[in-house]
Amino acid sequence: MSLEQRAAELREQIRHHNYRYHVLDDPLITDAEYDRLFRELQELEAQYPELRTPDSPTQRVGAEPGGDLPKVAHPAPILSLSNSLDIGEVRAWRDRIGRLLTADTELDYVVEPKFDGLSVVLTYQNGVLIQAATRGNGVVGDDVTANVRTINQIPLRIPVQPDGPTPPPLLTVRGEVIFYKEDFKRLNERMVEEGAPPYVNARNTASGTLKQKDARITATRPLSAFIYDVVAADAPISTTQWGILEFMKASGFPVSKEIGLFDDFESMLAYLEEYEARRDELPYEIDGLVIKVNNRLIYNELGIVGKDPRGATAYKFPSQEVTTTLLDVEVNVGRTGVLTPTAVLEPVFISGVTVQKASLHNYDLIAEKDIRIGDRVIVKRSGDVIPYVIGPVLGSRSGDEQIITPPDLCPVCNSPVERVEGEVAYYCTNPACPERVARNIEYFVSRGSMDIVGLGDKIVRLLLERGIIHDEADVFFLKAEDLVDLEGFGDRKISNLLTSIEAAKHRPLYRLIGALGIRGVGNTIAQLLVEHVDSMDELADASQERLETITGLGPHTASAIVQWFAQPHSRELLRKFHLAGVNLTAEKEELASTAFAGLTFVLTGTLPTMSRDEAKSIIEKHGGKVTGSVSKKTDYVVAGESAGSKLTKAQQLNIPVLDEAGLLNLIEQELS
Ligand code: IVH
Repeated sequence: MSLEQRAAELREQIRHHNYRYHVLDDPLITDAEYDRLFRELQELEAQYPELRTPDSPTQRVGAEPGGDLPKVAHPAPILSLSNSLDIGEVRAWRDRIGRLLTADTELDYVVEPKFDGLSVVLTYQNGVLIQAATRGNGVVGDDVTANVRTINQIPLRIPVQPDGPTPPPLLTVRGEVIFYKEDFKRLNERMVEEGAPPYVNARNTASGTLKQKDARITATRPLSAFIYDVVAADAPISTTQWGILEFMKASGFPVSKEIGLFDDFESMLAYLEEYEARRDELPYEIDGLVIKVNNRLIYNELGIVGKDPRGATAYKFPSQEVTTTLLDVEVNVGRTGVLTPTAVLEPVFISGVTVQKASLHNYDLIAEKDIRIGDRVIVKRSGDVIPYVIGPVLGSRSGDEQIITPPDLCPVCNSPVERVEGEVAYYCTNPACPERVARNIEYFVSRGSMDIVGLGDKIVRLLLERGIIHDEADVFFLKAEDLVDLEGFGDRKISNLLTSIEAAKHRPLYRLIGALGIRGVGNTIAQLLVEHVDSMDELADASQERLETITGLGPHTASAIVQWFAQPHSRELLRKFHLAGVNLTAEKEELASTAFAGLTFVLTGTLPTMSRDEAKSIIEKHGGKVTGSVSKKTDYVVAGESAGSKLTKAQQLNIPVLDEAGLLNLIEQELS
């Protein structure tokens, strides 16, 4: 192949992967592989400038923006960063810029985390957030203002504190939207609770969430952000990057605490190396560190090459990606019947952990990425999240690889598999599938559901095997005789378990409803339902139309509820619950007073003595309502320590703000 052909091939590949990554948010190759292709082209073009075409990916910033969100033009190009893959390359970067500066120029450096999220560009007019956009192609991005407004850390007005610096009349800043590891984990727990498949990759989920067309969905996902740069300002802010970060911090923007200022290049390098070991300790994902020349005048003077400012470089951590062989695909059956493909891998070591299984997402993605059994595949581990297969290494194919197809029959019970319109998942259609039954019972008795202590997954399976239980309701009929010859079950353990079962019979109705495993109905929705019905029987007989009148309950969930209760199996469960004396009536909490009747409250920040739940229940006990976001309809905002954007919004809308004592006073006042 001629060099010319190779350059054309690289351009084509990079363009494609660029589109997959930036527009579809669905990369086929790893960042490291992408970087390799990009570098090869850059080097080729540097050596043979005649190969450089005006449409080469090295000549422009990013890719075409996608989606239906309105487009907005950025006030200045949203640039990227050159990569340095090791300390040697950081030295080479320093040498390169050194040659462009006069010999006696002394530099100091700011080091920041390289957040593994997606770029967001925020514009403030006279201190008020007026626009938020994605990076898009660097020149034009998608308008995501409504979504960004749902991110608590992002101030809707600056300065957040009255003694903060006055912002320039027009200020555009840039940062990264991310999920904290803990928030991502909790989001996934909620997905599983509601019977939906969990998300695999935090970065892609953050991206999908930010580009949601319905900001109400975004609001339910705990996104976070860090701000790190000024894109444009019509008044000077600071002549140093450190000064800019200080300004941001003082204005109330989220700025990482993990930033460092170095006046000595060697100690900066030592910090880079030392930091790498701490990467996993951070509460969010980073894929490297960013080194920036602190003096912004020099930084600007150094200029831009392609889409990268010369004055900064990204020190990329070695990727937590490896290649291994895909030995097989295991199909797991979930309690809702959802079939999830899991990769069985040749064991491989990734940053300290042996990985043998990995997520394969779903069958659509397997087909799209053309992953086959026998393939060499790229596997990525990131933080606390389960490892997942990114894609195959097409170059290593022998031709003997087997195509993976979704099963026609459930691997456990051989019932036909169906695909629900509009969903990617395939489902086992048999509600009596032994695996579904087992998982449903496991879920039913687990913490957060019926919370039966001493009835772990293993025991559930054992009791099923022995025919002692057949469904969720049978648990309530367990007797000491059923348990005596189970291994490890002494008198004490048996009596504890029976006590726990007895206690479970008297839990509030919403817990029972939430434990049934109806698609989309976790404890939160169950609580909502209980506000509208007096008993389980009333819920069982509720029509789709009636359920749809409940604000906050979508038509899909309404229909899932109706369908669930229509099954003979479900009716049988209810009959047995009655028989076992399980609580099936909604206990309407007695109102302590109607002091807050008709009033809507929003809680924000940490209160000195009450938890948020306690504050909520106090307000509700007095007839008030608590909602999640501040609007003109909000009557009071109750703010504690580190209250965020909700407080700002309240101030903007002139809504009275109370502290904990103020809330209690208000009750007293209303009562007297
Ligand atoms: S500075 C001109 N600082 O990394 C300034 N970028 O690989 C260029 N990123 O597109 C960006 N953390 O989305 C900068 N502390 C940080 C960053 C950061 C993450 C992202 C950013 C950029 C990408 C480049």
